Amino acid sequence: MRILVTGGAGFIGSHLVDALMEQGHEVTVIDNLSVGKIANIAHHLGHERFHFVNDSILNATTLERLVRQADLIFHLAAVVGVKYVVEDPLNAIIVNVRGTENVLELAFKYWVRTVIASSSEVYGKSTAVPLREDGDRILGPTTVPRWSYSDAKAIDEYFAMAYAKKGLPVTVVRYFNAYGPRLDPRGYGSVVARFFTQALRGEPITVYEDGRQTRCFTYVADTVRGTILAGTVQEAAGQIFNIGSDREIAIGELAERIRALTGSRSEIVHMPYTSAYGPDFEETRRRVPDVTRARQVLGFEAQTALDEGLMRTLEWFRREEESGS
Ligand SMILES: NC(=O)c1ccc[n+]([C@@H]2O[C@H](COP(=O)([O-])OP(=O)(O)OC[C@H]3O[C@@H](n4cnc5c(N)ncnc54)[C@H](O)[C@@H]3O)[C@@H](O)[C@H]2O)c1
Repeated sequence: MRILVTGGAGFIGSHLVDALMEQGHEVTVIDNLSVGKIANIAHHLGHERFHFVNDSILNATTLERLVRQADLIFHLAAVVGVKYVVEDPLNAIIVNVRGTENVLELAFKYWVRTVIASSSEVYGKSTAVPLREDGDRILGPTTVPRWSYSDAKAIDEYFAMAYAKKGLPVTVVRYFNAYGPRLDPRGYGSVVARFFTQALRGEPITVYEDGRQTRCFTYVADTVRGTILAGTVQEAAGQIFNIGSDREIAIGELAERIRALTGSRSEIVHMPYTSAYGPDFEETRRRVPDVTRARQVLGFEAQTALDEGLMRTLEWFRREEESGS
């Protein structure tokens, strides 16, 4: 197939590209490299089945040319990560809403099957764990910028489902804390990257608040497998799926595991969220996906144990630290 990956130079996107290239597809990436890195896809440059376009999904002319030539689209380009959203909420809203609108409008025009990357952030502060795809969303006030990311992704989902209603085969995947090699310390799953970097440098490992808040970390190879299934399983069209592991770990415990894995002597220190994100910041205590629908419809289950995934991630961070990048 000819597959278009938006945001394909980013963390998850580049692993998706690896898997699609491995499967023998012709892959085109559009990425404006605002966060993504050429290094993430450098090993494919020059390959006859790989094409890279350095442009924004807000450029409708470029996008139209690429969508017209595609059999399948994975739309991952977005402004991701609390840090970026809090720093420049306007840019995040425009890219995350208008960008997705552009992709879906063109996918509809040329009738191309599409997978839209959404986020566990859409659940906001919901405490109804495990979080079901049809569960309520509970958000903070619009004066707290971080919730704009949740709402932007929710609008993307509304767009997707509206096009699905018109018959377009479109599927939404809600990712839960992906981690692995190429993780950007400034990105969404930044806590794993931050802990590895701090541990390897012997700096204090900074845990926000009491460290008892939990997350379900999903190894990126699993995230990618779920994404590809969402784009290829026929019954997935018109549906929304949680894609993630349902194994929960407290952030404080994660810090200890990473310290042990790296053999670091770093001390673990606690600090308030507000010292990193400002006084308006709000956080959620637990984020656990209900994975029933993904299991039943996609046959998807996250398989990589946390320790195994962390070991593979550590190897990559070690190499990065040694090369000084
Ligand atoms: N990492 C996670 O755990 C996680 C969790 C939930 C949702 N997601 C979603 O998954 C997708 C991929 O996330 P990621 O973690 O790989 O983030 P990432 O930041 O590494 O990837 C996003 C990519 O989009 C590119 N991009 C940004 N604006 C663009 C624009 N205007 N035009 C073209 N490219 C643009 C960036 O350069 C980057 O390469 C995003 O849609 C994100 O919202 C990720």
